[in-house]
Amino acid sequence: MVYLTRRYHFSASHRLHSDALSDSENTQLYGKCNSPHGHGHNYVLHVTVAGPVDPSTGMVMDITLLDRVVEEEVVERLDHTFLNLDVENFRHVVPTTENVCLEIFKLLGDKLGSKVTRGFPRLKKILLEETQSNYFEYEG
Ligand code: NI
Repeated sequence: MVYLTRRYHFSASHRLHSDALSDSENTQLYGKCNSPHGHGHNYVLHVTVAGPVDPSTGMVMDITLLDRVVEEEVVERLDHTFLNLDVENFRHVVPTTENVCLEIFKLLGDKLGSKVTRGFPRLKKILLEETQSNYFEYEG
């Protein structure tokens, strides 16, 4: 198996607020991230796919195809959105970067390793940088 990782960018805003908590608990837990009008991030997304090297091309995956899938499934859906309202899943799920990782993995997992690529390469990992200080990873 060889792993290929490619980096993408999108910008989005969010407000961290859980319907399961009271207003004061939300304020205490999320602090400034609970402020009613939200705040933005310039997210950096690393998508890793894994597969054997195709002997005829010498490649794990056609990068143009990977770009097309990530653009269509993730960047076009999330870029310049207010996640809480513009993305269906986040109307009821808190759009923490943990949950954004899960959502992106679901969106890409439906394409990479199934219909489009017929098994290989398959989606291996998502790494999502929220700020220069923190990032989250999800491997399904
Ligand atoms: Ni934030």
